[in-house]
Amino acid sequence: MVEFALPKNSKITKGKKYKQGSKDNNTKLFKIYRYEPESNANPRIDTFEIDLNKCGSMVLDALIKIKSELDSTLTFRRSCREGICGSCAMNIDGTNTLACLKPIEDIKGSVKIYPLPHTDVVKDLVPDLNMFYAQLKSIKPWLQTESKNIKGKERLQSPEERDKLDGLYECILCACCSTSCPSYWWNGDKYLGPAVLLQAYRWIIDSRDEATKERLNDLEDEFKLYRCHTIMNCTKTCPKGLNPAKAISKIKNMMASRV
Ligand code: SF4
Ligand code: SF4
Ligand code: FES
Repeated sequence: MVEFALPKNSKITKGKKYKQGSKDNNTKLFKIYRYEPESNANPRIDTFEIDLNKCGSMVLDALIKIKSELDSTLTFRRSCREGICGSCAMNIDGTNTLACLKPIEDIKGSVKIYPLPHTDVVKDLVPDLNMFYAQLKSIKPWLQTESKNIKGKERLQSPEERDKLDGLYECILCACCSTSCPSYWWNGDKYLGPAVLLQAYRWIIDSRDEATKERLNDLEDEFKLYRCHTIMNCTKTCPKGLNPAKAISKIKNMMASRV
């Protein structure tokens, strides 16, 4: 079941229907969550019937087509169309994923599209990620060093040290994992959530970083780290195939083994 942080006292109502014909009946219904904060109205689900013969293969192509041809007020984030920027994260067919990487043909029946679960909604499919970014900033996601590097030289890593960043540096901060995590739903203001913890581990494990102790001290907190109960929703949903739950357990192991 998909749950959302809806505006107070609201329930989702049935919305408008838009239709585009297809000569050989190759059409698909897209049922899309709509919410306009200025109107004071309840959120609604609008239904768009799209001719798949005249549409690209991904869900994002359908959203762009709907916005261009049927309803220009439909609002969503997107940028790269290549699974790199993380902007088009949304809940499609019950799973958090990237609209630009989700093939329409993989979805049976109508395509149901909602904003990322348990977020405040700015408009339609645009979630408010301000807290998520503030949490990211709090873990200082940059290289911290005390020692001077040799003038004109990079800080070097061995191939083995560099390998440790694999599975971490690829994170595009789409927030699919954090917004699929029940612990983050209920304690999102205090628990950092899987995406930010994966980023924290990415810097903790970087051989060039010299603030490992401080980084671990900052995470030694009943809520920030230890609200992860290894439910694994995060790993299941990551559209980049990463494993935030494993990164979290590695941080916990480091905490347990330090003197
Ligand atoms: S770990 Fe995966 S799901 Fe989570 S923010 Fe990074 S890319 Fe997105
Ligand atoms: S493993 Fe931890 S971070 Fe991932 S969904 Fe479960 S509780 Fe959330
Ligand atoms: S548009 Fe950039 S990840 Fe989808």
